[in-house]
Amino acid sequence: MMDKVNVELTVNGEKYEVEVTAKERLLDTLRKQLKLTGTKEGCSVGECGACTVIVDDKAVNSCMVLTAQVDGSKIITVEGLESKRGLHPLQKAFIDNQAVQCGFCTPGMLMSALALLNENPDPSKEEIKTALEGNLCRCTGYQQIIDAVEAAAAEWGN
Ligand code: FES
Ligand code: FES
Repeated sequence: MMDKVNVELTVNGEKYEVEVTAKERLLDTLRKQLKLTGTKEGCSVGECGACTVIVDDKAVNSCMVLTAQVDGSKIITVEGLESKRGLHPLQKAFIDNQAVQCGFCTPGMLMSALALLNENPDPSKEEIKTALEGNLCRCTGYQQIIDAVEAAAAEWGN
């Protein structure tokens, strides 16, 4: 039998207490226990960025993080973007710039972009590329995604 530990997480502004084994990945806690399935699993080894979420203001690959390690953290997932006022400016910019094709990479891209803009509301193209370099997209060729983040950044200041 595996020992379980209690972990407290604040996810998208709501507090949760979950019981996890020492080996449970944050990705599984989010998807299976909290039913937040917007976060995707691609490679499972920290290479594709599909599972990116924000933990205490930093974009991380949730397939590489153990839930027990982030006890007490504040987490944002793609579900945290939408509000009663509708789509988040980043989501709108992705749609307007055709940055969503199959959509598999999109939640992770949005999280990396959000972490960037929260820290640096006026990034250069190079800074956007660097922030997104851990997120793979097989469909778009990246240009539309970079355009979308630039468009969202232009709106950020308003
Ligand atoms: S599923 Fe986590 S980086 Fe690919
Ligand atoms: S839109 Fe398909 S992987 Fe990026």
